Amino acid sequence: MANDSTPNTEDLLREQQQAFEAALPEVEDDEGLYALQVRFLGKKGSITKLRKLMGKVPPDQRRALGQAFNAVKQTVEGGIEARKLELVELARARELARRVDLSFQPQRRRAGSGHPVLSTRRQLEQVFRRLGFDVLDGPHVEVEDYNFDRLNFEPDHPARDMQDTFFITPPEGVEAGEGDSSPSFVLRTHTSPVQVRTMLSHPPPIKIVAPGTVFRNDDDPTHSPMFNQIEGLYVDRGVTMADLKATLYAFVGAFFGEGLEVRFRPSFFPFVEPGAEFDMQCPFCRDEHTGENAGCGLCKQTGWIEIGGSGMVHPAVFEACGIDSSVYTGWAFGFGIERMAMLRYAVPNLKHFFEGDQRVLEQFPC
Ligand code: DAH
Repeated sequence: MANDSTPNTEDLLREQQQAFEAALPEVEDDEGLYALQVRFLGKKGSITKLRKLMGKVPPDQRRALGQAFNAVKQTVEGGIEARKLELVELARARELARRVDLSFQPQRRRAGSGHPVLSTRRQLEQVFRRLGFDVLDGPHVEVEDYNFDRLNFEPDHPARDMQDTFFITPPEGVEAGEGDSSPSFVLRTHTSPVQVRTMLSHPPPIKIVAPGTVFRNDDDPTHSPMFNQIEGLYVDRGVTMADLKATLYAFVGAFFGEGLEVRFRPSFFPFVEPGAEFDMQCPFCRDEHTGENAGCGLCKQTGWIEIGGSGMVHPAVFEACGIDSSVYTGWAFGFGIERMAMLRYAVPNLKHFFEGDQRVLEQFPC
C-alpha cells in the first residue's frame, strides 16, 4: 500500500513542472536554456530520474503515468523552444531601440607637447650635432672650483658674490675639490664648468656642446633665477678664431636662416683671451633683397641681436685642466637658450616660459 504521506510519482512530476515553469522566465540566453534542459531532461535530470520509478508502479497505472510524463516532457521542450524565440525577439527589440547619435562630437583628447625651451634646446643640439659636436651635460650642483677657479676667475671676482651665486652647504661627509680644505658647492651659474669636466677627463681633440640649466640669484622681468644655456668647446692643434666664426655662421644660418651676418665685439670673460660677445644680424627687419636692416623693436633699432659670449680658451684654463697650451688651442662660446626660444617663437616675456600657463604652452604643439 502506498503511504499517503509520501508523495506519489505524479505529484513529484507536477512539482518538477512547476520548478521548470518558475525557472524558465529567468533564463536570458541559449546557455541558460541548455542548462535548464539538462537539469530536467538530461541523463541525470530530475524528470529522467522520476521516469526510472515507472517500473515500480502497478501495471494498471503505468499508462496514465506514461502520458503524464510525456505531457511534462512536452511542456519542458515546448517551453524551452518558446523561450528561445522570445529571447531572439527581445535581442532584436533591444537592438532596434539602441539609438546611435551620429552627430555626437567626442571630446578630443588633449595631447601634451614639448616645452618650447626644451624643443629649442633639442633643435640647437641637432644643429651642433650636424656640425660634428658631441652633446654633454654636467651636474647642477657644482664644485666652486670647477664653476669658477679653474675657469680663471679671480678669488674676488664679483660673480662669486652672494648676489649672483647660490652657494650650497655640502651634505655631511661630502668632499668637494681635491686639496680644498673648505669645499664649497654652488648651483652652477653657467654651463662653462662642463668645459673643465670635459678637459679633465678627455684628451684633445674635444668638440662638444653642453646644454643645460643654470642658476643665478637674479630675478626681474628679463632675468630668471633658473634658465638654460648652451656651451660650446673646441680644442685641437691649430684651432683659431676663424673656426669659431665659421661655426657661428653655420649655427645662425641653420637656426635663423641663411645669409645672416655675424659679428664679434671685444669683451671680457676670465676664461677666454681674447674674449668677444657675438651678435647676429637681426633677421626680423632685414630686407631680403638688399640685406640691409631697417631697424625694429627686437634689435632695438641697431640691426644686430646679441647672442652670447665667446673667445679663445685662456692658457690658464688649459693649465688648470691638464692641457698643454703650447700644443693646443681652442675656443668656447656660451649663450642662453630661452633667448633663442624667445626670438624664434616671438615670445615677448621670458617669464612666460616658467609660469606653466597652459594658454601659453598650448601654442607650442610640437
Ligand atoms: N659663461 C658665460 C656666461 O654665463 C658665457 C660664455 C662667455 C661662455 C664666453 C663661454 C665663453 O664659453 O667663451 O656669461
